[in-house]
Amino acid sequence: MLPLSRTDVPLGLHGKHDNALIYVRYFARRYLVLGVTGLVLFFLLLRILYVGRDVRPSPISDGNPSSRWPGRRLPPLYGQYHQYEHQLPQHHWDAPSHESEPKFFWIPGHSRGSGWGNIFQEVLLNAYLSHKANRAFVFYNYTWNDDGSDYSDYNGKPIPSRIPLSALIRGPIVGAPWPAGDPAPLAISEEYWHHVCGAKRRVIPRAEVHDHLPSWYVSDITKGWLDKLSTVDDQCVEAGSDGGPPYNWVTFGEKDAMTDVWPDFARSPVLTHLAWSPLVELGFDNNREVFAPTTVLEPPLSSIPATAPSAERYSMLPGLLVLHIRRGDYEGHCAHLARWSSSYLAFNALQGLPDRFAPPPGGQLGREHPGERADLHGALFPERAADRAQGGGGRARGGGAGAEPGACVCDDERRGRVGRGAQGGAEGHGRVDERGEQQGPGAELGAEVFIGNGWSSLTGNIVLMRQANGFRPESTRFW
Ligand SMILES: *[C@@H]1O[C@H](CO)[C@@H](O)[C@H](O)[C@H]1NC(C)=O
Repeated sequence: MLPLSRTDVPLGLHGKHDNALIYVRYFARRYLVLGVTGLVLFFLLLRILYVGRDVRPSPISDGNPSSRWPGRRLPPLYGQYHQYEHQLPQHHWDAPSHESEPKFFWIPGHSRGSGWGNIFQEVLLNAYLSHKANRAFVFYNYTWNDDGSDYSDYNGKPIPSRIPLSALIRGPIVGAPWPAGDPAPLAISEEYWHHVCGAKRRVIPRAEVHDHLPSWYVSDITKGWLDKLSTVDDQCVEAGSDGGPPYNWVTFGEKDAMTDVWPDFARSPVLTHLAWSPLVELGFDNNREVFAPTTVLEPPLSSIPATAPSAERYSMLPGLLVLHIRRGDYEGHCAHLARWSSSYLAFNALQGLPDRFAPPPGGQLGREHPGERADLHGALFPERAADRAQGGGGRARGGGAGAEPGACVCDDERRGRVGRGAQGGAEGHGRVDERGEQQGPGAELGAEVFIGNGWSSLTGNIVLMRQANGFRPESTRFW
């Protein structure tokens, strides 16, 4: 199972280029073995979390998933997480009146049917806006398809139509208390919102806010909504779905869209107290020995109290290099990006990050610039891996001196050659991956050096959290 010599390493990962060899030589053999094992564990999770975008789900109408996908094991639906959300103490299901409860803010037009990277960045900003407005954030399922089905078809495979957010993340964003001293109201679930607010919603049409915005930067959108929300006193306020959610792809694709808001957003407890779910952390603990071995007295990640700030929880894993290689649908996406002179996504263009991408001058919107396609191709595909991995990016904060980096590669495309040994004690907790293996995410947040893809929202979420957690900007790079 583990590669025993250099020739056993699945070099397809790096393409058939000479660069692959340079890259391979870079790592001491020990780390190579650990790293390659880490990577296959790792990207399986990413596969299910980032199932791609722009692919419309086909609804399941026959009501019998096992006849629809004969012989396939159906993925879990995470019912116990849904139950946990239902039972949050701020949900007073049986109260005769809800008048003494806080004010709520619900965004029914939130995105659906996209990969987790896209959904997650929007969830973060929606929660940030609600917190700023001093209204309880109404959190919702990660929804692939809301036709009421349990399963959807993704490229011939069954995937859950909805995943409770608490199966993926943890913290005030999904109803946990805010840090001590923060009087903000606790987030509630969408079901509870319908229960309390069904008949007494006040809808603010999106156009009433967005028609007057000076830009689609996050700071302007946030201010527009906060100004508007300050004029209404209703308990149940809903953002109109006309024109989509407050923050959409226009904002996320704009490289300067985060600049003004970043200092405040980075301090928001939405980010400082964000964590992966217990399930995800268990996956990390089960697998970490292969890519970031523990020292004797190091407690498992999942045993750290839930209230610990994110920066403490995901402290640096010295010597670990994590690479995110986004593939699959990127060939077509590359042409699209070149046509629109795209630069890095907003979350990948935060202040201080050393790598920038400037489209070659002279391009016209809507028409592909040949130079840009070539440049983009270099950046979107891992041929550059060798150079960047060797250049490193310097040491992240503290420690790690002299350690040779281990490697952990997340690759969205390739299916892993992972064994069945990784399930550990996971059975009671449900599963993250359709085949039942537990994965090891979390590594990217703590990696001493991370190299990602500037056009990927999955990379973007990692970059955002690393920056918020105080990692040295030089330790976060792009191809
Ligand atoms: C969220 O997903 C769960 C299944 O995990 C489902 O029972 C529930 O109805 C969904 N909530 C909404 C509001 O659709």
